[in-house]
Amino acid sequence: MGSINNEDFYLLQRGDFESKRLNLQHFIWRSSLNFLLHPSIPLTSPSLRIADLATGSGFWLTDLARTLPPTAYLHGYDISTSQFPAQCLLPANITLQQQDLLSPFPTSVLGSYDVLHLRALSFAFGKNDWERCLQNAIKLLKPNGYIQWDEPQLSLTLPFGISSPKSPTFHMAIVRALLFSISQKMDRQISHGPTLTHLFSTYLQATSSTIHRNDANASPLLLQNINENALAAVKGVFYRALEIGGGTIEGLGGEDEAESLLAGIMVEMAGEKAWWTQEMYVVVGRNVVCATPEA
Ligand SMILES: C[S@@+](CC[C@H](N)C(=O)[O-])C[C@H]1O[C@@H](n2cnc3c(N)ncnc32)[C@H](O)[C@@H]1O
Repeated sequence: MGSINNEDFYLLQRGDFESKRLNLQHFIWRSSLNFLLHPSIPLTSPSLRIADLATGSGFWLTDLARTLPPTAYLHGYDISTSQFPAQCLLPANITLQQQDLLSPFPTSVLGSYDVLHLRALSFAFGKNDWERCLQNAIKLLKPNGYIQWDEPQLSLTLPFGISSPKSPTFHMAIVRALLFSISQKMDRQISHGPTLTHLFSTYLQATSSTIHRNDANASPLLLQNINENALAAVKGVFYRALEIGGGTIEGLGGEDEAESLLAGIMVEMAGEKAWWTQEMYVVVGRNVVCATPEA
């Protein structure tokens, strides 16, 4: 495999279906976190400038806009504009713009934001991209500005083991193994919460890191939505990997095989024999700048 172009190797699709999946995922995460921005981040200034980096369908910003005065300036950036809603569907104080987070931003926006938010870059970033992105993002912050990065750590609990085709979680086990091998081969990272915590403490001050857990103890309705949403993401990854691989990839012969694995999982999920566990890492950091004493 040659050099990786980040737009080409994004491991999810970008159609309408994926936008709807992202929007549902937003509601799931908001209902488990109970906040969009961590309560430690002050939002009282009427002229706040907030940017959402890798904004996707812009849904997080749209939801945030409902909680802020219309004088707040909200800006979304993404490497692709294909999931941006039409400008007429957005509140007047939101603008969305194309920008690769791994390339320099225009100088006009450097040092201009009070708060930056990032979420769900797993499947988008390779091993070294997380640090590069954070270094780039910090340049956008005003002195004493805040960054919040939310990253889910998705894992699949398989209480029945993986070996036998008779196991009630046989399809789940195959899919989990495939998901890991695909993302490893394409240098995309499935989960990166712990590394973010380390990076924030390296580059920022006043950092905090919390982990919010959704597991089998979550409400059955929430759990059902988490499972279905996770499955839709997995389907997107398989289809995207097949697209990149020209129709087949190692361990997956094509779309028919993907469909049959996913149908097998639906049956296993209905039997409640396996479930996705989702830990959400919420890492907050502040670009603290100490005032220099007057001479
Ligand atoms: C899983 S989506 C998450 C979207 C949004 N943050 C959310 O939580 O709903 C990941 C987004 O990252 C964007 N992305 C991937 N690589 C990027 C890059 N290098 N620069 C900017 N955006 C990128 C993708 O286009 C996609 O919209």
